[in-house]
Amino acid sequence: MTTILKIENLHQIFEQGTVNENHVLRGINLTMDQGEFITIIGGNGAGKSTLLNSIAGTLPVNQGKIIVNGEDVTRKSVMRRSKQISRVFQDPRMGTAVRLTVEENLALALKRGRPRNFGAGVKNKDRNFFKDQLATLNLGLETRLGAEIGLLSGGQRQAITLLMATLQKPELILLDEHTAALDPKTSITVMELTERLIREQALTAFMVTHDMEDAIRYGTRLIMLHQGQIVVDVKGEEKQNLTVAELMDMFHRNSGAELKDDQLLLS
Ligand SMILES: Nc1ncnc2c1ncn2[C@@H]1O[C@H](COP(=O)(O)OP(=O)(O)OP(=O)(O)O)[C@@H](O)[C@H]1O
Ligand SMILES: [Mg+2]
Repeated sequence: MTTILKIENLHQIFEQGTVNENHVLRGINLTMDQGEFITIIGGNGAGKSTLLNSIAGTLPVNQGKIIVNGEDVTRKSVMRRSKQISRVFQDPRMGTAVRLTVEENLALALKRGRPRNFGAGVKNKDRNFFKDQLATLNLGLETRLGAEIGLLSGGQRQAITLLMATLQKPELILLDEHTAALDPKTSITVMELTERLIREQALTAFMVTHDMEDAIRYGTRLIMLHQGQIVVDVKGEEKQNLTVAELMDMFHRNSGAELKDDQLLLS
């Protein structure tokens, strides 16, 4: 089994040495195999986004190592990591270039990890490919190739962002509450699309969610972060058979946190 991601003793400390010092990640160790789909859950401020930002390279690492597919990327730029790693954020406005059309955005996604040339036109053969890809979303977007992305709904944009993130198979895809800003019905559509893309392309994926049911329902492995540490890590049958009550039990046993923290976790 190929290891896609290895995190060794990762620490993130914000405003180190000041009164506001915030030790957010406290020695994270994690090995992720190819094809694993990890869901991460944890209360507000637990460090979930910080973990994803460290992996993607948008945050310099204080201490520890990040190894992607055998290569130490700890000091590598976001741009250079983006050949291997793609991301989808919570805000539908983050993943796409708002003034560009659907097909221009998709053309940019084809060039992920290479210097961007915003003047580039769309080739005919690519246009047909984009049409076919958009048709697989079942949202009728294959007729909107020339539409400005900014004119589409949040759900349509998130679906396109997902497509862009997987157009060239990434070694690792990071999803940070990418359905949280959508209405419940659209959120389910985008979640199902996510699950299908990950399954069909056998992607290795890391998905942050606030929804415990979703964290259990989707993915092959579930991790719970609490105060910058991994307090639950389950996979296989144990994860498949897990209930929310059992998950809460594990959380209490492993974190030593009080019941009142449930609110934190569920918020
Ligand atoms: N760039 C930054 N500079 C300073 N502090 C930061 C930075 N990014 C995050 N933090 C702090 O780190 C802590 C963890 O934040 P993080 O965004 O990782 O939490 P989270 O688990 O993603 O929470 P949420 O569920 O609310 O998204 C918070 O206290 C936050 O204020
Ligand atoms: Mg977050």
